[in-house]
Amino acid sequence: MKPWLLIALFAFATFSARADTVLITGSNRGLGFDLASQYAADGWTVIATSRTPGDDAALQDLGAKYDTVRIEALDVTDHAQIDALADKLRGTAIDILIDNAGVLGNPGMQRLGNLDFSIAQHLFETNTLGPLKIADAFLEHVEASKTKKVMNISSVVGSIALTGGNIYFYRASKTALNMLMRNLAKDTENRGIIVGMIHPGVVDTDMSAPFDIPKISVQDSATGVRDVIEWYTQETSGTFMQYTGEPMAW
Ligand SMILES: NC(=O)c1ccc[n+]([C@@H]2O[C@H](COP(=O)([O-])OP(=O)(O)OC[C@H]3O[C@@H](n4cnc5c(N)ncnc54)[C@H](OP(=O)(O)O)[C@@H]3O)[C@@H](O)[C@H]2O)c1
Repeated sequence: MKPWLLIALFAFATFSARADTVLITGSNRGLGFDLASQYAADGWTVIATSRTPGDDAALQDLGAKYDTVRIEALDVTDHAQIDALADKLRGTAIDILIDNAGVLGNPGMQRLGNLDFSIAQHLFETNTLGPLKIADAFLEHVEASKTKKVMNISSVVGSIALTGGNIYFYRASKTALNMLMRNLAKDTENRGIIVGMIHPGVVDTDMSAPFDIPKISVQDSATGVRDVIEWYTQETSGTFMQYTGEPMAW
């Protein structure tokens, strides 16, 4: 192959990769941070959001390492802030919107006999209503992109078929997330938008620390989640998947 053709192909590949943009919520630690790191390393433009970016040393380092990483403040429970960021980014096409930010709450306060209902409200605002608000606010940005994906980090514990008791509010917040996002898939299919719900595995992050069970590394989870995001098409929009690429029971 002629050297000039090789250079042209390389330039095209680089430009194509950089033209892809992903927005990730809760990207300062855990799964969100690894997703941001992996997309950045692959040349994506990453809009990495976090509640308090000023405190996030690792995320700031990532932003310093890659000029394609743009850090923005976003609390997913703050609807005015979500609208303000959507306005600020008006005109930016977002290929993949990843609703990753989430909270577990104290499992001990989500047990029969010790149910703290104030936790429920916080979990629903963060895990369920936040993603819907963000999807609604950023729908035009996603629709303007090539890929058009709204991807949600759900959980096996939101599966009604597989439930095993306890953590009532966290479970219900993810079950409700799945319902909202399947509904979103129906409402947006004629706009070409692809919606996914993904169980990332039981991942070795701060969130899973209370549970003494086998865990996968955050790197393996992020890699699997990215593969599943890639796999989603209009035909599979609205389905609930595992990070391994297998379907998850509702
Ligand atoms: N770990 C697992 O085994 C597991 C299994 C199934 C599903 N998931 C899901 O995977 C996702 C990521 O969890 P993780 O394991 O990476 O947990 P993590 O290490 O605890 O990280 C949670 C992330 O969410 C952010 N966050 C929480 N509330 C927020 C808010 N109101 N606004 C913006 N960001 C907020 C946190 O930011 P701060 O640093 O500001 O708190 C942090 O970046 C969650 O949706 C979780 O439910 C995790």
